[in-house]
Amino acid sequence: MSLDASELEKLRAAFDAATFVDGRETAGWAARTVKQNQQARAGDPAMDAMRTLVAERLQANPLFQMAARPKALTPILLAHYEPGMTYGTHVDDALMHGLRTDLSWTLWLDEPESYDGGELVIESPSGEAPIKGPAGAVHLYPSTTLHRVDPVRSGIRRVAVGWVQSRVREGERREILFDLDSARRALFEQSGKTGAFDLLSKSFANLLRMWADA
Ligand code: NI
Repeated sequence: MSLDASELEKLRAAFDAATFVDGRETAGWAARTVKQNQQARAGDPAMDAMRTLVAERLQANPLFQMAARPKALTPILLAHYEPGMTYGTHVDDALMHGLRTDLSWTLWLDEPESYDGGELVIESPSGEAPIKGPAGAVHLYPSTTLHRVDPVRSGIRRVAVGWVQSRVREGERREILFDLDSARRALFEQSGKTGAFDLLSKSFANLLRMWADA
């Protein structure tokens, strides 16, 4: 993502000054039984400024635009895990704040070596993939999955998380659009605006027109 070092520092400082409440307040009734973390209270001006900053950076990121094709973002949650805190296996609610959640994302604020445990683990047909990103990185994944945050053993895990309603509901379609868009951009880099580029662009635009919710 395009959060620079000074913005990350500002974000971490705002976290240190924030008031945290029990994360169960924003979880669905079943997820609540496995959620043990803390979240920044809504309505805190310093943290609201941070939420705005993260949303702006996310929306300005070309890769995020290509992968998510966002129609709208939910409000951002700022979560904090101390040793022993965890978020057990759950599926995210399908509807939040009047939006359909197609994609979930996590932005890490801390370097992975600064805390033990706290991996984001996403279940997939090919097994489990534990993820612990570098500070400033964002991981985007389908909201349709079962996933969890393993217990933090030492240190502090601070993350921003949120959800995206995509203009393209189906993940397989988003993947086709991502590949076609990537291919036509690579072709343009290599050989400029050729006939092949125009045809690929036409197919990409027409598939997007066929599949997108306006
Ligand atoms: Ni979740």
